Amino acid sequence: MAAPKETRTDTGYEFRAAAEWAELGAVIGLAYGGRPHSPAHSAVVGALFEPKRSLVACLGGRPCATLAGYALDMTLPGGPAPVAGIGYVAVAPQHRRRGLMRELLRRALTALHEERGEPVAVLHSTEPGIYGRFGFGLASQVVGLSVPPEARAFAEAPDTGGLTLDVTSPEDAHAAVTAVYDACLPQRPGLLRRDAAWWRRAVEDEPADRHGAGRLLCLVASGPGGEARGYALYRLRPAWERSRPRYELSVRELFARDPAAYAFVWRSLLDTDLAGTVSAPSRPVDDPLLALLDDPRSAAPTVRDQLYARAVDLDRALTAREYSAPVDVVLDVRDAMCPWNEGRWRLTGGPGGSAACARTGAAADLALTAREVGAVLLGGGSLVQLALAGRVTELRPGALRAASAAFRHDPAPFCPTAF
Ligand SMILES: CC(C)(COP(=O)(O)OP(=O)(O)OC[C@H]1O[C@@H](n2cnc3c(N)ncnc32)[C@H](O)[C@@H]1OP(=O)(O)O)[C@@H](O)C(=O)NCCC(=O)NCCS
Repeated sequence: MAAPKETRTDTGYEFRAAAEWAELGAVIGLAYGGRPHSPAHSAVVGALFEPKRSLVACLGGRPCATLAGYALDMTLPGGPAPVAGIGYVAVAPQHRRRGLMRELLRRALTALHEERGEPVAVLHSTEPGIYGRFGFGLASQVVGLSVPPEARAFAEAPDTGGLTLDVTSPEDAHAAVTAVYDACLPQRPGLLRRDAAWWRRAVEDEPADRHGAGRLLCLVASGPGGEARGYALYRLRPAWERSRPRYELSVRELFARDPAAYAFVWRSLLDTDLAGTVSAPSRPVDDPLLALLDDPRSAAPTVRDQLYARAVDLDRALTAREYSAPVDVVLDVRDAMCPWNEGRWRLTGGPGGSAACARTGAAADLALTAREVGAVLLGGGSLVQLALAGRVTELRPGALRAASAAFRHDPAPFCPTAF
């Protein structure tokens, strides 16, 4: 993607590509409450900085609003695809509600469209109410789990014989962890390919973020031949109740290549000495732990929003993925932010084959906005659910269920990588 042109608005704000991470860092520090980034954190996020994709708005030469752009490779239903990551949308407090965020997003999406960049844009949002108006739909959800000591039993579990356990640092376990993650990568939409810089972000362990817990630990499960089959990144926070240890164990990330390793990693975490409640604040909505626990109710599953996605170019976005069932549907799309997507599009596709999407004059089967398209792009959202909420209109009887089944994907999308 070429560097966006420098332009000045009639309000005096100048928009240009960011020259260095420090330009963003200063605004971000202010926007998120004044805590400056430590040199260590700046080095980690600075290594991911892509100047040509990142924008600043300046007033009098001083940056006052930011948007970071990233070229990412994400698993979509059917396989990996390039997507544009957007992060660090931040506006200094004294410049808010003047349309700077809207203008930064409009410029970033227009540049992707004009230069035929990635067809899909994705972001994590600090608050769920911000990005729907810009055509970003809720593409993945997560479930938070908190397993109390009395509810650790599994109903039935695969045979975990032959698996062995090691607990070490994420750095020492790097080869094992990356091997497991890379094996899991194609299985679930939403997962991002990680190079060395993204791995440093994934295992970042800022002392200021520990809140009384110990350093980040890595549990690795290996098979009889020594091959890594599962891992968990977690920490323990000391806590005592009536002189008994009730340490809080919190899982940051957990992947396993097969059901036995998966059960073994969880069993090992749940059986950790000193641990009281074992929590995992961000797991896929269809996490198998919910099916392993004898008493999932006690784990108090709590669902919340995770990744937001948007079609930059509708036809290229809808053909970047595969469909779970045969689909032949005409979508009537409204898209105020990216007007080139507006109108009627015929989408055809099915399992194991490539999809086609082109403008059509045929009557529409479903009417929806870019936001609903974004919600189903990764296979997570349900068109039926959105229709029941009044956000999708079925114009041809039968079209809704068929399209909904085609867009859904098993397993559900999940994006644990922060950007
Ligand atoms: C969120 C933030 C980026 C908004 O920037 P801004 O320049 O004030 O936003 P804009 O003026 O462009 O607002 C555009 C629209 O979004 C709405 N909006 C802005 N912030 C919002 C919020 N936190 N929640 C809901 N809506 C919001 C505005 O009301 C406006 O609505 P409209 O469609 O009726 O016009 C800014 O408040 C900020 O930096 N907050 C702290 C950091 C943060 O949370 N960033 C988001 C990272 S994902």
